[in-house]
Amino acid sequence: MVKHPIVGIVMGSDSDWPVMRACAETLKQFGVAYEAKVLSAHRTPDAALDYAAVAQERGIKVLIGAAGGAAHLAGVLAAKSELPVLAVPMPSKHLQGLDSLLAMVQMPGGIPVATFAIGEAGAINAALFSVAMLALSDAELAKKLSEFRVRQTEKILAKTLPDLP
Ligand code: RP5
Repeated sequence: MVKHPIVGIVMGSDSDWPVMRACAETLKQFGVAYEAKVLSAHRTPDAALDYAAVAQERGIKVLIGAAGGAAHLAGVLAAKSELPVLAVPMPSKHLQGLDSLLAMVQMPGGIPVATFAIGEAGAINAALFSVAMLALSDAELAKKLSEFRVRQTEKILAKTLPDLP
């Protein structure tokens, strides 16, 4: 059975995909159905606004907006939707994503976006945070999240460091 997407990942360019792929892979690992789209706040503004405006009625529960440089994409999605919007700053060419991070994290009061770390860590954490939110009303997903955390803990505790020569 094809599951209807409940997380919408929107990125400003296909050049963001090598980073945002980690977000999609993490959601897939938890069996969370997602859709991933390229929509830009400045290159395709009408399409980005239209997507956000109908996302909730299409059954989407969380929006993830990823952009670099012109990093207002997550804010634009939040402007048109009351769904929780998670923002992932992409590493921009000249400022390594610091500009994207500041634009996303410094949203003025009233229309929030929850901003994550620059790059792959942020992409993964936006997916894990989506899982945590969805798990509040999904016991099976909550169990998968607990199991993931246990596995992660075991993996770290099993690590060893090399002896000095
Ligand atoms: C932003 O501009 C995109 O999110 C991307 O991070 C950045 C550069 O886009 P390209 O010029 O690579 O298409 O809108």
